[in-house]
Amino acid sequence: MIYLVAAIAGMAGFLFGFDEGVIAGALYLLRPQFGIAPVMEGVVTAAVPLGALFGSIIAGRIAESLGRRASLLFAGALFVVGAVLAAMAPDTLVLILARLVLGFAIGVAAIVAPLYISENAPAEKRGMLVSIYQLAITLGIVGAYLVGYVFAESWRTMFVMGALPGIALFVGIFVMTDTPRWLVSKGRTREARAVIAKVRGIAPTAPEVESELAAIQQAAEGPARRAGWAELLTPTVRPALIVGVGLFVLQQLSGINAVIYFAPTVFKESGFDSHSVQLLATMGIGVVNVLMTFVGMALIDRLGRRPLLFIGFAGTAVSLAAIAIGAATDIAWLDLVSIIGLVVYIGAFAASVGPLPWVMMSEIFPPKVRALGMSVASVANWGMNFLVVFSFPSLMHTIGLSGVFGVYALVCVIGLYFTWRYVPETSGVELEEIEAHLRSGRPFRELGAKGAGGR
Ligand code: BGC
Repeated sequence: MIYLVAAIAGMAGFLFGFDEGVIAGALYLLRPQFGIAPVMEGVVTAAVPLGALFGSIIAGRIAESLGRRASLLFAGALFVVGAVLAAMAPDTLVLILARLVLGFAIGVAAIVAPLYISENAPAEKRGMLVSIYQLAITLGIVGAYLVGYVFAESWRTMFVMGALPGIALFVGIFVMTDTPRWLVSKGRTREARAVIAKVRGIAPTAPEVESELAAIQQAAEGPARRAGWAELLTPTVRPALIVGVGLFVLQQLSGINAVIYFAPTVFKESGFDSHSVQLLATMGIGVVNVLMTFVGMALIDRLGRRPLLFIGFAGTAVSLAAIAIGAATDIAWLDLVSIIGLVVYIGAFAASVGPLPWVMMSEIFPPKVRALGMSVASVANWGMNFLVVFSFPSLMHTIGLSGVFGVYALVCVIGLYFTWRYVPETSGVELEEIEAHLRSGRPFRELGAKGAGGR
């Protein structure tokens, strides 16, 4: 049962990555066919993060009113509709519309799927399941690159392939029940009891079922369930908000999606003339992204959040600077430096700057504002994703590859300062301790200072 829950998470993450990455292979064919100029290219590409921005704003609300299951069914259906519409698009306008729909589905799924997992998973497996979600994003990106390579002659086939995981998500979630927490919030206690028993693989009459149900009911009755937006700005919560939002702003402005969405273009600008070589190199990027995510998963608890972030931002800053220098010159061996720089950049991102904002977003907010805090952080994520992807083609046109990557390198240097100044060490720290520290009024970064991070 728990593996089914993980599979749902995997499908949602895979779709997230697939619909982000698929444009990389398609642009090469779309540019001549629809006569797309740089600004329009930005619009077509950025329609996905823009749609996701809207999706993430309403996700919390529909997850509460319709339930987690119905929201994911809705997202699954939208993934299929969006994929088919994109594949049939007769012009740029319909393509933009289709990508807005796909983005909207990602925005909903990217909030509801992790929620669905954390409400169904036993506490000791939660961390692992969140990691599966991030890993699935990177696998979805590779899947999209692979489709871009295999169907290099037909962008319509590339887009329609996205309907398959959409159908899998829909069917998978169709046979599942909603989460005990949501059922309790709607007064459907008997169903909640049956679900707990089923997920844990024990009899509905077992005492563990009753105690878990009681805990959920107690939490649901808590007086501060209805915390408002203003709560996020109170002195106790503000430090968490700064870290949650700040990490996503930095993650996105480090330029990751300029690479993920436009990798073949970046390789072309770096001196690779053959299109199939550009696509192969793009696949290499996708594979490094997957492999280094495993490295990040292995290090995140052992090394601690702060040291891993320092390493990540240092690695991305240096490698981005190397790409910028390589692209600014005509010296042949510096092209090679650019390529090595790109691989190091993806590796440093995947092991650190990629997963850490997601992990920390789920641990730093006090429980009563967790959902709100997470949705504000998600909005920051998609907003900045949109900004980077939308501006990239135009910036390439005006300041060139070296200029753009120079700016991203600077952002990563700011990331080093931000980590030093604001980010707490949460590895090995109980969630209750995090909340108590926030309430104490001491600087957030002092949390866990002598704990796992220093070792
Ligand atoms: C980011 C995505 C990005 C992906 C790349 C995620 O952590 O939020 O925007 O495309 O990593 O692997």
